[in-house]
Amino acid sequence: MIEFLGDWKRSHYCGELAAGDMGKEVVLMGWVLRRRDHGGLIFVDLRDREGLTQIVFDPEKNAEAHKKAETVRSEYVIGIRGIVAPRPAGTVNPNLKTGEVEILVSECKILNRAKPLPFSLDEHIEVAENLRLKHRYLDLRRSALQNNLILRSKVTQITRQYLTSNGFLEIETPFLTKSTPEGARDFLVPSRINTGSFYALPQSPQLFKQILMVSGFDRYFQVVRCFRDEDLRADRQPEFTQIDCEMSFIDREDIIAIMEGLIAQIFTESLGVPVELPMPRMTYAEAIRRFGVDNPDLRFGLELVDLSDIVKNAGFKVFADVVASGGIVKGINAEGCAGMSRKEIDELTEFAKIYGAKGLAYVKITDQGWQSPIAKFFSEEEIASMNRAFAAKEGDLLLFVADKPKIVNDSLGKLRNHLAAILGLLDKNVYRFVWITDFPLFEWDEDDKRWAAVHHPFTAPVDEDLQHIEATPGSCRAKAYDLVLNGSEIGGGSIRIHQEKIQSLMFRMLGLSEENAREKFGFLLDALEYGTPPHGGIAFGMDRLIMLMTGSESIRDVIAFPKTQKGTCLMSEAPSGVDPLQLRELGLRVSAKAQ
Ligand code: AMO
Ligand code: AMP
Repeated sequence: MIEFLGDWKRSHYCGELAAGDMGKEVVLMGWVLRRRDHGGLIFVDLRDREGLTQIVFDPEKNAEAHKKAETVRSEYVIGIRGIVAPRPAGTVNPNLKTGEVEILVSECKILNRAKPLPFSLDEHIEVAENLRLKHRYLDLRRSALQNNLILRSKVTQITRQYLTSNGFLEIETPFLTKSTPEGARDFLVPSRINTGSFYALPQSPQLFKQILMVSGFDRYFQVVRCFRDEDLRADRQPEFTQIDCEMSFIDREDIIAIMEGLIAQIFTESLGVPVELPMPRMTYAEAIRRFGVDNPDLRFGLELVDLSDIVKNAGFKVFADVVASGGIVKGINAEGCAGMSRKEIDELTEFAKIYGAKGLAYVKITDQGWQSPIAKFFSEEEIASMNRAFAAKEGDLLLFVADKPKIVNDSLGKLRNHLAAILGLLDKNVYRFVWITDFPLFEWDEDDKRWAAVHHPFTAPVDEDLQHIEATPGSCRAKAYDLVLNGSEIGGGSIRIHQEKIQSLMFRMLGLSEENAREKFGFLLDALEYGTPPHGGIAFGMDRLIMLMTGSESIRDVIAFPKTQKGTCLMSEAPSGVDPLQLRELGLRVSAKAQ
């Protein structure tokens, strides 16, 4: 029989009661995690979002409640009234906040039953993620996921408090909007009233927040959903949340100082982890030189070493030819890895090839010196110079890639992270921040044969580079900055262009005709002509940040209702077909091929 709450009021959460509550009469409500029958006595671990409490049904004391307890199964929802008592000696659980107490039940209500679950909620049992996502309401009962979302809520509150107390106003911007380019595809929403026209869901509120600066709001923030139709990975979702900020009359240093303060406050208040300020900085050029990537993980060494100069005249054709044709040769000293088998090194080679490397030359440092298929091609002097450059010692493994700079940096940069994972160097309890600054303004898009903005088209060039923006776009730097945490880009922003002339020049450089620029961004170009203050901002990826703070493997573990890698919601089965009538109203038809 299912019972109703009636006049019962919960007195405590299940995770709350401790030794100080002995003797109190309490009312608890929650889910049955486990039921154990010990002959006469029945023990139930009752669970809610705050934790669990052991409750005891004694047939001698209360036969009616005990009878009900005999029928309860896992995940039944029950309410109990009872007295807080000490657990018998020897049964105290020091790992549990409520481990010293149990509740002696006087009354019980079965508020709802549960079917046998499709999977166990035991944290230690591996369950296929698709099954978990289909029954997300069950998966979300697990304390690991509950704790992730509780931390996320805390971080949101700290963010609001910090930014508000620093003069930021929380202002909402539209979801039904015009496309803003952040480099991904847009999600489109057809308009019924304006048949044949489409809104785009915002990839970020970029243009709206800039226009709020034009309007004089001075400091804006929003905890805001962004939508990007891009290929998904473990740290990307089609809809994700940004902590989005914009400020007027500031330079890069102001933004960095305020945002470092935000991150430090988030870490100390929600995790109890202090963050040392100021955070380290590195230019983009230095990051690429030392780590091969613009999001270096500073928890470990394994830095890239440039050997181009040493090997440019070497007998090893592969290296010498690459340098002669403008390429570079770099390497990593995998310290202590000389014991790796042929198979393990082949695996590393295959990994480097994913990123375009043509091969991965290697050298083992033994007590006899260099042991390697390529050792014979180098002079003693070249070998000595390379040993010095690598600080190589017996037991080390040297790995080399020779190619165009982009391929060398990319493949060795990724290999560096891969090696660190293999070698167990990725400590999840260590947080290493670094600001990357002075990004290039443009990168050459080989497919479209045009320059593309590295950050976005609204980012200002560094003042002294502005004059040669047309002559040598490739060497122009941007007033852009990223915050990287443990090898993940958790935020990015820039000082913006606030003059119409420069913005128009920028659009021209990106290959947009004047007509095209007006059609897409006319409202921005207009606004820039009516008194736009110097301004800049940043956006943090909330989901990635929480993922790193909780040590989660996937961004899906910090989002209540995430999408799969294929962009589907397995619980609600979105996306799905729609009624033909809906399509007709929108003036749309799905092609036979798409169906
Ligand atoms: P950007 O495109 O660098 O900048 O985005 C800011 C941060 O958002 C996070 N992020 C994502 N997180 C999850 N899933 C995704 N698909 C995804 N894409 C991005 C990253 C990233 O650092 N308007 C600019 C900000 C600005 O210039 O102020 C912008 O959106 O952590
Ligand atoms: P090969 O001369 O092709 O037999 O290659 C000799 C070694 O050099 C092998 O270990 C290859 O993996 C490696 N190798 C080949 N091309 C490159 C390259 N571009 N960069 C680094 N190593 C390479």
